[in-house]
Amino acid sequence: MESTKRDRDRDRDRLHTLRRPRRPRILHCVAITAVSLLALVGILVLVFWLVVRPSLLRCSVEKAHLQGFNVTDNALSATFNLTLEVHNPNRKVAVYFDRVEVAVWYDGQMLALNEVAPFYQPRRDVRMLKVDLVARSRPLLSSVETSLKQDRSAGEAAVEVRMRAMVRFKVGLLKTDDYTLRAYCLPVLVRFSSSVTQFQKVYCDVYI
Ligand SMILES: *[C@@H]1O[C@H](CO)[C@@H](O)[C@H](O)[C@H]1NC(C)=O
Ligand SMILES: *[C@@H]1O[C@H](CO)[C@@H](O)[C@H](O)[C@H]1NC(C)=O
Repeated sequence: MESTKRDRDRDRDRLHTLRRPRRPRILHCVAITAVSLLALVGILVLVFWLVVRPSLLRCSVEKAHLQGFNVTDNALSATFNLTLEVHNPNRKVAVYFDRVEVAVWYDGQMLALNEVAPFYQPRRDVRMLKVDLVARSRPLLSSVETSLKQDRSAGEAAVEVRMRAMVRFKVGLLKTDDYTLRAYCLPVLVRFSSSVTQFQKVYCDVYI
């Protein structure tokens, strides 16, 4: 009897000593590996960032010219001649603009839209994009029509210019996947009288 109880105790002890230390040791190992990997990735990202020093692209509206404005029967006809500036301040990052759309918005309604031909922007480059947006008898929300007519009497309208582009970044030989770049520029003041030509540059909020 004595011996069987001792045997049982020993078996139980062995069971414990066999089972328990094993899992913590594996967990420990996994944890250390994970932490080391994370630290390594962190250091690589940091080094990459320090070497590349990426900074955001800058956009602005340099010119906005309104031509042929005509609101008749709740529909707008007009041409917006825009000049946008896209500035890539990066020393190590070049940008592919694969698809670029520019739109003029007013009071929650899009008035006109056009595309800009794809282009490649090298490092430290400033590029002017000229784009003409034409509205041809575009139906207007009645609130928009009312506001536009009021603006017309006042001589100028504050519109919003939006740009959306699919971009890829290039660092050395590395190219990233597609990103969507969005720029919101407001208020862009357009004048109804073509005799007034001065224009106040508008900086855009850029998001990627
Ligand atoms: C404005 O548009 C209407 C309809 O498209 C047209 O009949 C009219 O001649 C236009 N007015 C001007 C000043 O262009
Ligand atoms: C504005 O755009 C229209 C349509 O593309 C063009 O015919 C016109 O010459 C442009 N005007 C200016 C001032 O660039």
